Amino acid sequence: MIFPNLRMRERRKDEEVRRQLRQTAALTQRDLIMPIFVKEGLSAKSEIKSMPGIYQFSAREAVGEAQRLYDTGIPYLILFGVPKHKDETASSAYDERGIIQEVIRSIKQKLPQLVVIADVCMCEYTSHGHCGIIKKTKEGFQVDNDQTLEILAKIALSYGNAGADYVAPSAMMDGQVKVIKEALMKNNLAKVKIMAYSAKYASSFYGPFREAAESSPRFGDRAAYQMDYYNSDEAILEAKLDIQEGADIIMVKPALAYQDIIYRIKDELNFPLACYSVSGEYAMIKLAAAKNLLDEKKIVLEILTGFKRSGADFIITYYAAEVAKWLKETR
Ligand code: PBG
Repeated sequence: MIFPNLRMRERRKDEEVRRQLRQTAALTQRDLIMPIFVKEGLSAKSEIKSMPGIYQFSAREAVGEAQRLYDTGIPYLILFGVPKHKDETASSAYDERGIIQEVIRSIKQKLPQLVVIADVCMCEYTSHGHCGIIKKTKEGFQVDNDQTLEILAKIALSYGNAGADYVAPSAMMDGQVKVIKEALMKNNLAKVKIMAYSAKYASSFYGPFREAAESSPRFGDRAAYQMDYYNSDEAILEAKLDIQEGADIIMVKPALAYQDIIYRIKDELNFPLACYSVSGEYAMIKLAAAKNLLDEKKIVLEILTGFKRSGADFIITYYAAEVAKWLKETR
């Protein structure tokens, strides 16, 4: 049907009309998840060079940070730990007195309503910086899938025992959601839900995070376990498998260069979906804003709204706390 005289501009002529006809709900604090880095043995917070405004916190400071976050109206945070002791098998990650376990217990004691998500991976805890158990092969090395699964289940169980509301497996091992779900069920922790890093790409956007989490691989890269960015059908399959294995929320990561993946997964699977706007995305905007090259607030709100329009229900972003402040100012 053609309306030759249709006045499209009537639909956007002023702020009131534009608001009436919007297809995407306005961004709110409830859409946001804030990442927090906690480092064992730290006496005072330390800024991450490549991520201005983002810090590694001591355990005590992390609890204060959680309180500040809660006061802004953001309901979720995701925790990453930097341990003192690293070894081949990431043993600090499943230590009952580990840094993340302690922080989870303190946060949940003080702020039971705050939803605590714990990232489950080995790279911050291994001496080699890979996300699993390394095996030497003729060609070099390999991350052993099934040995890694056992450890991931142990880590997830230990975070669940400490009181995490969600565990978020990010190692990209086959079957990781299944073994974690089974371990939780067997141990009476069915209430602990799983936010699965389903479509996590091998990306150069993770650079600043590896500084923050001190988790760069000492050799090789993660291309044999994280996804190849030429592919999108594979992302659908990964997400489907995670749903079948018991994920409660699935995730796409990174976000900015992967909005087609966010859109397709939401469209085809219609399941609670998070996207992770990663460290490199944050750094690009932050550093450009520091040079006054762009309007930081407007750019960030435009990008985050784009994620919602694409189909994301949750957005993990290092801008979460700042955005919550901006949203308060404009209302
Ligand atoms: C752990 C993990 C990574 C990120 C989140 N969880 C790093 C990686 O895979 O190397 C990256 C997040 C970011 O860049 O903000 N495996």
